[in-house]
Amino acid sequence: MVRIFQDMESLSQAAAEQFTVLSRQSISICGRFSVALSGGSTPHRLYQILANAPYRERIHWDAVHVFWSDERCVPEDDPRSNARMARQVLLNLVPIPAENVHPIQCNLSPQDAAFQYEKELREFFSRQNPNFHLVLLGLGENGHIASLFPHTSFLNEQERWVSEVYIPELDMHRVTFTAPFINQASHVVFLVSGLDKAEVLEKVLEGPYQPHELPAQLIRPNGTHPLWLVDKAASQKLTAQNTEEDLYTEESMPD
Ligand code: 6PG
Repeated sequence: MVRIFQDMESLSQAAAEQFTVLSRQSISICGRFSVALSGGSTPHRLYQILANAPYRERIHWDAVHVFWSDERCVPEDDPRSNARMARQVLLNLVPIPAENVHPIQCNLSPQDAAFQYEKELREFFSRQNPNFHLVLLGLGENGHIASLFPHTSFLNEQERWVSEVYIPELDMHRVTFTAPFINQASHVVFLVSGLDKAEVLEKVLEGPYQPHELPAQLIRPNGTHPLWLVDKAASQKLTAQNTEEDLYTEESMPD
């Protein structure tokens, strides 16, 4: 499902509503809400909105558990750190218990950080199915998601939940969820904004299936389709058949 919004603001508002509704449903059913946050710049506005009224009060933060679908292997005080951004914009501003925030340990080597994070996830999901209630993802201009980049070794991974990867074009190590682990999630929501994403979004959604070129095509949560929340600029090249034009603007958003 592709839902198109007028702009980043209305897209982020809709994502905040989705996050809040899923959190309340999950907590009422199984007593907790497990979410994997995305990195990059696109979710920044969503995190800001969740840290403020009315969402800050509507979410039962004491039952929310936060993980990351990927991280850059930099110290947490590095401006490139996904955990640092989410803490500054959201987690430090809401009443979530410190033990419910599960960052990737980037003070370790990439291999050890990936191994440690998988161990932590297996313990966290030890008493239930290893499926996140919600995994948030962005889309890179080259079709990467989380840190699953085109033509990288872990795209074929079937066993591991978390892997370390070196990205030559960024000269950076990263730790990332693998596609099979993401696909165990109950809900996967992509946030995609801006004209610079229009070409890749069209290829991912309407082009031939070539997951090594476009890792985003690997994402099929439980065999279904993820939800794509995109703004009008990013949807420029999409043909209408499988899109739903919400075209909500700030004013027309339901309270
Ligand atoms: C990261 C992300 C990555 C991101 C895309 C889109 O750590 O960078 O997890 O997969 O979602 O690169 O990034 P933007 O939102 O900044 O365009």
